[in-house]
Amino acid sequence: MRTTAVVPGSFDPITLGHLDVIARAVKMFDEVHVVVVHNPGKTALLPIAERVTLIERALAEAGISGNIVVTQWSIGLLVDYCTEVGASVLVKGLRTPNDVTYETPMAVVNRNLTGIETLFMLPDPGQAHVSSSLVRQVAALGGDVRPYVPHVVAEYLQGTS
Ligand code: PNS
Repeated sequence: MRTTAVVPGSFDPITLGHLDVIARAVKMFDEVHVVVVHNPGKTALLPIAERVTLIERALAEAGISGNIVVTQWSIGLLVDYCTEVGASVLVKGLRTPNDVTYETPMAVVNRNLTGIETLFMLPDPGQAHVSSSLVRQVAALGGDVRPYVPHVVAEYLQGTS
C-alpha cells in the first residue's frame, strides 16, 4: 500500500532542522507533501509564497529529491488537505519538552477529526536547538544565520534585512 505523508509547518523560514525531518520522511514514505500553513497565532516574517519557493530551493540545494510536493494551505483544517491528497500520516519534529506540550493536543485533535496519525521525529542532535523564531531574531538583529538555515535562506535573509 502506498503511504503519503504530510510535513506541515509555518516554515518561516525553513531551517536545517526542518530539512533533516523532510529528508528522513522522504526515505520513509512513498510520497511526501511539505505544506506551508498560515498559523494565525504567529506574526509572519515571510510571505507564504516566498516560504514555498525557499523550501523548493533548499531541497534542490541539498539534493533531496523524490516524490515530493511543496505547497501551501490556508483555507481550512490541515486534515482537510490530508484527506484531499490521500495522506494518512503527519510528520513533525520534536525538539524540546515545550514542543511536546504544543504538539500533543494538535496530534490528538487531528486524529479525532479524521483518524490521521502523527509521527514525531527526534531531531538530529546538532539541530535540536534550531527554530525559525530564533533564526528570525538573529537575522533581524544582523547576526549570522548560516549555521541554522540552508544557504539559499541565509542569502535571502541577508538580502532582506
Ligand atoms: O510550524 P508551526 O507554526 O508550529 O506549525 C503549526 C501548524 C501550522 C502545523 C498548525 O498550526 C496547523 O496544523 N494549522 C492548521 C489549522 C488546523 O488544522 N488546526 C487544527 C490543528 S489541531
